[in-house]
This record gives sequence, structure tokens and C-alpha cells, in this order.
Amino acid sequence: MSEVVDVKGYVGNFDIRILKKARYVDEKECTACGDCANACPVIRPDEFNLGLSSRRAIYSPFPQAVPSSYVINVNECLGHNPVVCAKCKDACDKGCIDFHMSDEEIALNVGTIVVATGLEVYDPTEMDEYAYSRFENVLTSLEFERLINAGGPTQGELVRPTDRKHPKSIGFVQCVGSRSVRKGGSYCSNTCCMNTVKSTLMLKEHYPDMEIKVFYIDMRAFGKGFEDLYTRSRRLGVKYIRGLPGTVKESSEKGLRVAIENTATGKLEMHDVDMLVLALGMKPASSTQRLQEMLGLQLTPDGFYLEAHPKLQPVDAATRGVFYAGCAEGPKDIKESVTQASAAAARAIRLMHKGEISSEPITSVVIEKKCKTCGKCAEVCPYNAITVDVKRKIPASVNTAACAGCGTCAAECKFDAIVMNHFTDEQILEQSHAMLETDPQEKILVFACNWCSYAGADYAGVSRLQYPPNARLIRTMCSGRVDEKFIWDGFRMGAPIILVSGCHIGDCHYIDANIWTEKRVKKVQKKMEKLGIRSERLQLEWISAAEGVRFAEVMTRMESLRRSVTPEEINETVMILTPE
Ligand code: FES
Repeated sequence: MSEVVDVKGYVGNFDIRILKKARYVDEKECTACGDCANACPVIRPDEFNLGLSSRRAIYSPFPQAVPSSYVINVNECLGHNPVVCAKCKDACDKGCIDFHMSDEEIALNVGTIVVATGLEVYDPTEMDEYAYSRFENVLTSLEFERLINAGGPTQGELVRPTDRKHPKSIGFVQCVGSRSVRKGGSYCSNTCCMNTVKSTLMLKEHYPDMEIKVFYIDMRAFGKGFEDLYTRSRRLGVKYIRGLPGTVKESSEKGLRVAIENTATGKLEMHDVDMLVLALGMKPASSTQRLQEMLGLQLTPDGFYLEAHPKLQPVDAATRGVFYAGCAEGPKDIKESVTQASAAAARAIRLMHKGEISSEPITSVVIEKKCKTCGKCAEVCPYNAITVDVKRKIPASVNTAACAGCGTCAAECKFDAIVMNHFTDEQILEQSHAMLETDPQEKILVFACNWCSYAGADYAGVSRLQYPPNARLIRTMCSGRVDEKFIWDGFRMGAPIILVSGCHIGDCHYIDANIWTEKRVKKVQKKMEKLGIRSERLQLEWISAAEGVRFAEVMTRMESLRRSVTPEEINETVMILTPE
């Protein structure tokens, strides 16, 4: 009943606004006796049972709901504004019903945040080949779960929706909305294979004579004890058929005829079943994007939250003080969700327990007297760590607890009003001067981000890969730190080729700082063209830490590009860029 509407602040000091929707029932007094629901005349489909049963306009969302209190759906209620029904109010002895209750806003100040937004399932209506929207006896795996659940609409009796009879045969279709580049997600949803295996075992236990077929691409039983379950299912007579249905048609007595190409035998087969269950894939919760914007988080191409590091920080977000639990971060089963949730709680507690946090000294510092309050630094900061009052001309200030040290602000500030500790302009320019001091025409000047490209170069080295030895690397924490002036200075010093390299888009360790790198490099390339300097001499490449081979390839390419730059071209560039 509550929704996060705004998050501001940083680790140790997040200000959160929550909208708590009105329940119209006093949750402290309500004993969930159900007298109100018995009196309510409005009947609606029960969302918890996916429309397979009904509920009233005043209802308990599901038996284990917390708090154990009824709630009124005001859009369905007849008695709300103006009061025309109020039968529930009359039926409630304890006087819990209050039609005048209103939404409430709650403000919290918290130190850490655990994001556990869960998942949604794929909507199979767009997969017309499975005929979900045409035939009633085609069910989703969630609907099937409700049907076989003892607390479900049929008290666990498996019946066909069309005639309420026990099906004698049943088919399961795997990977509905998973592992498909056309519809749904291209990723594996992780849990569907074992969920189907579990369902087949339950069915065989209750209905030993039932004929069960599973249509699959390949079965993935990778967890502890899972292979045994899969083997048990096959031993009990469940038929696993490799191939997904091409069409589903209705046959006599509302049966279903499934056409598949069996990829194990290469034959076209027809299978008749009484009921078909579609094993739905998972997709990110619809709230993911909104929360991502509020908290400055990153998403994977599949739309799930991206962790700070897949191996070393698997539950941390790139934003300090934010952790992930469960399917918010990717499809996972209950065991994995519990493990990750425990890890997220432990990480949060560890941070909070100390009462203070230590931060890296690599942060930016504003030189107030140089600041012209343009606000560019605040605009580019991926962590919202910079505040500047453009209207009242109050200079920028950096919150060092929130600053992660990417250096994008320093690179974007036109007035040199921001100093990046440990990666100052002077330090970087000194390095490039030293590298280009002798025979600059022989060198390839490379700016490499600490986390990906520099690590990729390391990897190329430890893998003993051959690449031209004339590359000279300058490490910055992020490619976002590479200031325009470093590039112009490099060309002025006689560099034939300059390469800016960083993490792939979406993989930057500072959320999306490398988007600014890309914009900046393109801007400089345009200026180069205008000045009559060949823009290919400035290159931008994304190289990850695991791409040692790619690093070597890029360097080889840079070397052949360098050979194409003549001494005359270099001299001309130096003359163009050297002030008279
Ligand atoms: Fe590699 Fe930002 S950290 S580009």
C-alpha cells in the first residue's frame, strides 16, 4: 500500500518520501473476521488467484498478508464519496471502517537502502502460437500454481477451466518469454525448468496415471540436488520432448493439439493434451526504471539492476549505501534470493554498525573563487554529489561522502574551478609531457580508465599477448576524467595518435560517466575537423578488463594508424595548436 516517491541524499543520510495509500480500514483494530466482505455486494476477480476466483470490494489481499487487515478498493466500492452503500460499515462491530481516511506521506532518514523490487512475469498474449488468449485450457505457470495450491480457488484440485474435470494429460511449454530474441527476454529466467520439474513430480504424486509431456529447448538443472529431481521426474514417466510448439489448436472436447518439431529426432509430431501450461519467463518489475532514476542506479541491457562488480561486489549498487536483494538484480530462485538478501542485509549492517564511513581520498574539490556557478559540474555528476545555486550565484560545493571520484566534473569545468585529488590536471599533463618528450611521433598516447581499459592492458600483458610496444598509457579512474585540454596538449606536444579508452557503455564504474567521455571526444573530433586536423587521429575505444585480446588488437590498429600520420602532418598540427 506504499510507494517510494522521492529519494535524496547519500550514504548514511538518505531522505526518503513514501506515499502510504489509504486502506479505509483501521489496520490496528481490524481482526480480519471477514464480516465486512460477507456484507459487500461488489464482486470482482481476485488478483491473487489471477482471476480464477472472486473477491469483494473490501477484501484481504491474500491469506498471509501483513498487516492482517482488510482493505477497500475505492475504485470498486459503492459506498465511498458519496456514501451510498456502507454495508461493510454497518457489518463491522468494531467500527474499523473509515471512508474519510486519506493518503499519508511518510518522511524517513535512513543510512542505507536495500532495493528488493522483485519481478514480473512475461505476458504470453503476444505469443499467438501458444494460443493463450484463444483457448481457456491453456494456462500460465502462475495460474497452474494457484490451481494446485491447497489455499487456491479449487483447494488444490487440478481441474480444467472449461469443464471442471481432471485433465488426463497435460503439457508444459518451457522458455515462454525467455531465451528468445524475438519476444520476451533473451536471457534464461533461471527457475522455470526446475519449477516445471517440481510440478510434474507433484502431479505424479497426486495423479499417477496422468500423462505428462514437457516441451523444451534444453533442461537446465544446475542447482544442488536438481539433477536428481529431474531424473526422478523422468523415471516416473514424464516425457521430455525437445522442441517448442509451432502451433496449438483446439481438438474435440476442448482438448489441445500441439504441433512440434522434435529437434532430437528431426520429425514433426502432434501431441494431444487436455491442458497446456506455459512456463513464463521473468522480467524486471515495472517500478525498476523509476527507482533507478531516483537512486542513480545502473541497469543491464535486460533491464535488471547492475551490481557494482559481478564477482567482488555482487550485492552492491554503484551508488554507495545501496544494495540489491532478489530478482531486482536478475532472475533467481528462492534459495539464491535468500542468500543475496542475507548478504545485502549484512553489507548494510556492516556499513551502519561503525557509525561512520571512510571515503576514498580521490574526490573533487571546488576552487570557489574560480567557480562561475554555471552548474555544468552538477549536471554531469552521476552521483548528484555537487550542489550549485545557479540563480543565487552560490558556488558549487562537493559532498565528499557522495563523490565517487570519476573526475567528470573536473573534465567538464571550463573554468578550471574543480581539482580532482590525486588526478589533478598538472599530474596528468606532467605524465603526458614526460611520455612525449622524446620522439613523440613514435608514440601512441593512451588514456585508460582504471577499471576496464587499464585492467585490459594488464590482462594482455599477463596473457603474454604481443602488441606494439610504443603505446604510452596514462591511467585515470574513469574515462570521464579525460579533459579536452589533455588531448589538445598531447597533439601540441607532437602526438600522432591519441586514444581515449574506457569501459563499455553501460559498464562504467561511475554509473554513466563514460557517456560524457563519448560526447566530449566527438566534440573534440569536430573541432579538429574545423581546424584542418584529421579527426581519426583521436580515437575512442571501449575495452573491458577481460578483453586483453581486444586491447592487443586495438593497439595494433592504432599502430597502423600512427604509421599513416606523416611528420609534416604532425608539424602542421603543432603549428595550428601553438599560440603565436
Ligand atoms: Fe571505465 Fe568510467 S570507469 S569508463
